[in-house]
Amino acid sequence: MTLRPETRAVHLPRPELNGSTPITVPIYQTSGFAFDSPAVFADGMGRPDGAFVYGRLSNPTVRALEEAVTGLEGGQAAVATGSGMGAINSVLLALLSPGDHVIAQRPLYGGTAHMLADLTARFGVEVTYVREADPAAVREAARPETKLLYLETIANPMTQVADLPGMASAAREAGVLTVVDNTFASPILCRPIEHGADVVVHSTTKYLSGHTDVLGGVAVFASAELHRKVWSYAIELGATADPFAAWLTLRGIQTLALRMERHCANTRLLATRLAEHPAVAAVHWPGLPSHPSYDVAAKLLTDFGGVFSFDLRGGRAAGEAFMSSVRLALLAPSLGGVETLILHPATTSHRSLDAAGLAAAGIGEGTVRVSVGIEHPEDLWADFAQALG
Ligand SMILES: Cc1ncc(COP(=O)(O)O)c(C=O)c1O
Repeated sequence: MTLRPETRAVHLPRPELNGSTPITVPIYQTSGFAFDSPAVFADGMGRPDGAFVYGRLSNPTVRALEEAVTGLEGGQAAVATGSGMGAINSVLLALLSPGDHVIAQRPLYGGTAHMLADLTARFGVEVTYVREADPAAVREAARPETKLLYLETIANPMTQVADLPGMASAAREAGVLTVVDNTFASPILCRPIEHGADVVVHSTTKYLSGHTDVLGGVAVFASAELHRKVWSYAIELGATADPFAAWLTLRGIQTLALRMERHCANTRLLATRLAEHPAVAAVHWPGLPSHPSYDVAAKLLTDFGGVFSFDLRGGRAAGEAFMSSVRLALLAPSLGGVETLILHPATTSHRSLDAAGLAAAGIGEGTVRVSVGIEHPEDLWADFAQALG
């Protein structure tokens, strides 16, 4: 039976016990497993899908999460990690060697950009940056040492949407693997493997878990061979997830589709009203026809996401005044949880960029980023309206 993601997210993989099945996957809070057979023990050590041996290699709760996200993303297998950066770094370190070349989208999440800069400085991995919807630039940049094209479905904080089919097919023509960070879209809005990606990474800290109570990450693979390569590296790195974090994430995933619907609807209301407000100079959300990614987003995404940013006419002073005036939205890092969070990218998430870097990313001194929660939209609007006042 072919199930839609909304149904798959509810009916997660369940382990069978002796004659019955727990409706909710239990937390297997054990660091190791005992064996009757030395041969089964030895076999389990060497593969990601064998008998459970030791928690850093595999665990039934963690495997349930890996199977759940594999199903949602339409992949072959996954590795769950202790954070989004754990997934991203496991993929980069497993697939890259000194002297390799990477083509990466700019803008890029700060942690990933730092890691690529570090790989350049210490291991001679060269990086060519391209825009998120420029397949010709991928063709031009590709060379024999190019191993990866790295993209984000929706970028932070200006919400540019990558042309996944165009970019991934340019990479494939050049024999280059495509890795996509799908954190902002979640598999409810977009499944990059359907558009040619070889690897999808998530910070499950965000929408997949959804309740601002757990850190986690996952890398999903379109091929079992790639999965095995990265799994072998992630277990040596010690990046793999712990069972309680995996369980919290599984619990969050069951309401992912409902939450995404509300995140997107609330964002539409706030973005549309802010775009008409006299104190606001611009609103950046790919669901608005004025956004440069509107056409790509309309083709690629089933809805336009729960994060947007906006520029206040009064610049930095106005941005700071707004952020200290909201009463319901919380001034806080991260995104994708049930509560609305705001931050000032220029002084927080993107503080490592200088003025030129901020300008290149389109981030203004007065830009405010909003991760819209699932509260009643009119309560959110009332809060934003009073803060603008
Ligand atoms: C798009 C994106 N990818 C990856 C990460 C890193 O995730 P984590 O903080 O779970 O390591 C983040 C964190 O904000 C993110 O926004």
